[in-house]
Amino acid sequence: MPERDPKKFDPSRAHLLDSADRDRYLPTATLVELLALAGDELVVDYGAGTGRVTVAAAAALPDGRVLAVDESEEMLAHLRQRLSDIPNAEPLLIAGDQVPLGAGAADRILAINLLHEVRGEGALTEMRRLVAPDGFVLVVDWEPGRKRDSGPPDELLYSRDEAAAELEAHGFEAEQVDGGFPFHLALIARSK
Ligand SMILES: C[S@@+](CC[C@H](N)C(=O)[O-])C[C@H]1O[C@@H](n2cnc3c(N)ncnc32)[C@H](O)[C@@H]1O
Repeated sequence: MPERDPKKFDPSRAHLLDSADRDRYLPTATLVELLALAGDELVVDYGAGTGRVTVAAAAALPDGRVLAVDESEEMLAHLRQRLSDIPNAEPLLIAGDQVPLGAGAADRILAINLLHEVRGEGALTEMRRLVAPDGFVLVVDWEPGRKRDSGPPDELLYSRDEAAAELEAHGFEAEQVDGGFPFHLALIARSK
């Protein structure tokens, strides 16, 4: 069996993504608020996991939809189950950071707890291709140096400045936003 990439989320821990505790320190409602949706957008949830945030975003889109993409077969199984009765949310397995949408098609892209998992890969390039000229990517990830009992080890994570620099290097302008999260940094990335 091939060795698991240590920076990638372990699907056997999928239940943690849906723990009630998570809403205390990373409220889904705040993430959706930060998306500033009008209600008719196409949102790509990149690395959607179990679909926790997908579901909340879909509920805020009476005339829009969410494409929930993930590269993990195991996570896709969770997504398919979770989204089966949500007509405006579609799960999709992707490989090689290829999302089957045209350039500029995504009004918003969610990248929640994803940035450190895609270090050195093609995800940010694909997000830059996908995001609409007047849209943005919401990047939220664990911030190193915060005292906590869960989440990835600090050495895998980006500081605020490193995250902003990584986004800038991929053709984005990055703006720090205050989500009021005790353990997470938040950035809004717009195409330069
Ligand atoms: C820590 S989980 C976060 C899930 C979800 N965003 C959330 O906040 O509940 C990260 C997810 O990103 C997925 N992932 C990592 N790299 C990816 C890539 N390049 N393309 C698509 N999905 C990816 C993993 O399979 C995993 O499901």
